[in-house]
Amino acid sequence: MSVIERLTALEILDSRGRPTLMTTCRLASGAVASASVPSGASTGAAEALELRDNDSGRHAGLGVLRAVENVCEAIDAAVKGKDFAEQADLDSFLIDLNGTANKSRLGANAILSVSLAFCRAQAAERGAPLYRHLAEIGGLTPRLPQPMINLFSGGKHAGGQVAIQDLQIVAPKAKTIRETLQAASDVYRAAADRMRANHGLRLLTADEGGLAPPFASSRDMFIEAMAAIEAAGYEPGDDVALTVDVAASHFYRDGRYHIDGEALSSAEMVGLIKQWRDEFPIVSVEDGCDQDDWRGWRELMRRLKHSVMILGDDLLCTHPRRIQRAISEGAANSLLLKVNQIGTLTEAARARKLAADAGWQAVISARSGETEDNWLADLATGWAGDYIKVGSITQSERLAKYNRLLYLEQYEGLSL
Ligand code: PGA
Ligand code: ZN
Repeated sequence: MSVIERLTALEILDSRGRPTLMTTCRLASGAVASASVPSGASTGAAEALELRDNDSGRHAGLGVLRAVENVCEAIDAAVKGKDFAEQADLDSFLIDLNGTANKSRLGANAILSVSLAFCRAQAAERGAPLYRHLAEIGGLTPRLPQPMINLFSGGKHAGGQVAIQDLQIVAPKAKTIRETLQAASDVYRAAADRMRANHGLRLLTADEGGLAPPFASSRDMFIEAMAAIEAAGYEPGDDVALTVDVAASHFYRDGRYHIDGEALSSAEMVGLIKQWRDEFPIVSVEDGCDQDDWRGWRELMRRLKHSVMILGDDLLCTHPRRIQRAISEGAANSLLLKVNQIGTLTEAARARKLAADAGWQAVISARSGETEDNWLADLATGWAGDYIKVGSITQSERLAKYNRLLYLEQYEGLSL
């Protein structure tokens, strides 16, 4: 029994200084909780609609006061006094209330903020930590995810100085979150020192807190990562391996991949990724092809699926229909899950289950625009994500999630 008494929402700022929403849900039992929603920069075309005001007089049109109003008025009026026994009951009510396929009427940001705030309030009402409540919703056994930690950025997350969007590190041999974060911190420091020495400047960080030096080419980014891993005293591949978010949709134009001064065909792009894989210890490739280049994705799978995770972000948009297609066509073997791409926890849980049933791995991911809210750490743990992708080990909106994982490791008896 979880009767909603009141919903309120507030326009707050995210890590890029752009507006987003924080919603508070009060239940009749007195349980009350808030949740904030993230926002992406390199968004997929099939994502649910993030409602923005388009009022150029405020925040360059990016205000979310209409979404705030939708929570405080339309959604509050519709749910007030109603009893939602389970998360799925509320989420399907919200989907019907909105009534459009991509959540454009009320806004996926408004809807997700309600879905999350209710989830937290219900966990509080039941006296369960959020991760355990989420595990029940997802029908999964909680487990800490392995962090995939941002080291370098390019593309839409930095100045576009190199086409690849993000290069991350993982620590396959680390037995704990604490050890993983220590390795990441060592490698980050070594990379920052090398950048300072090579470029003679205090390096600015990208949207997810990674370093964004002026690399001459994509290959250079990998070479620098290898050098930093070695300089920090780790064995590349063994102690610290690489994962890459190519985010190829964002440099695909007129049927060509525009990378490193060249315009590659789909087969050539797959060939380039294969070269990177042959030269460097890469264990996961995200969005190696454009979101609608299904043939390229099948080729990527054919050539690389045995050695790396073929991870779909823009391709799948956490959308059950797109995931189903990718499973049937053999276009990917791992799901990047971002709850705000689909708009409710229940639909994201369905996406997670679809992928798990197909034997896929799952990476639970933050967005480039994040807040200090840490619910993603509980989600990745409760839904037994193989990995969590939150960004770099700098910037508090990233650390809120890593530090919550450290807490869960220490006090909840959970392990990787
Ligand atoms: P976004 O990027 O949050 O800017 O969309 C993250 C990613 O592409 O994984
Ligand atoms: Zn991505």
